[in-house]
Amino acid sequence: MKFFIDTANLDQIREAQALGVLDGVTTNPSLMAKEGIAGKENILNHYLQICEIVDGDVSAEVISTDYEGMIKEGEELAALHPQIVVKVPIIKDGIKAIKYFSSKGIRTNCTLVFSAGQALLAAKAGATYVSPFIGRLDDNSVDGVELIGQIVDMYNYYEFDTKVLAASIRHTMHIIKCMEMGADVATCPLSAILGLLKHPLTDIGLKQFIDDYNKLNK
Ligand code: E4P
Repeated sequence: MKFFIDTANLDQIREAQALGVLDGVTTNPSLMAKEGIAGKENILNHYLQICEIVDGDVSAEVISTDYEGMIKEGEELAALHPQIVVKVPIIKDGIKAIKYFSSKGIRTNCTLVFSAGQALLAAKAGATYVSPFIGRLDDNSVDGVELIGQIVDMYNYYEFDTKVLAASIRHTMHIIKCMEMGADVATCPLSAILGLLKHPLTDIGLKQFIDDYNKLNK
């Protein structure tokens, strides 16, 4: 399973990259706004900076909600850097745009997916990634992880190439559950990735090893 980091914060991206296990980055307009990035030039420049830090795919989202606007924005984003994946919402014009991008060899991440039906349309349109938002489903009393399993099974059964990118991950256990379901990618906050390291027996065991070494070697 690949790990993407879900942020536009350059320090966090650098920290995750330094771990050596980072496969890519996802951003969205809210995450960009959180970092205070505004204005077309600054936004494009920020994506470029992210691409310079990481080796893998970097999702950059279109703001337009009409077909022509999405095509114009998406082509501009894709031309920015080979690592850019154009993030497109699962709406009617979005599906048409994904189909167009797919025919032009432009990679896409179909976002704001909350149902298997939406994921089916995204795959049929040729999306590179589909992003089911599991945390936001959980917030609404629907099991987000279960949707990941449903989509993975559907894509396997029909042999779609679209990769399942589990998004809106809130904590470490979400990552483990998505792994169990067979998600191709999990895009996570840095805290959830670092949470995978934690185990009290590791801390106790390590302390004991160091103490025992020090007893004879000081
Ligand atoms: C996915 O690509 C989105 O950027 C993200 O995972 C949304 O997460 P949130 O529900 O925590 O905002």
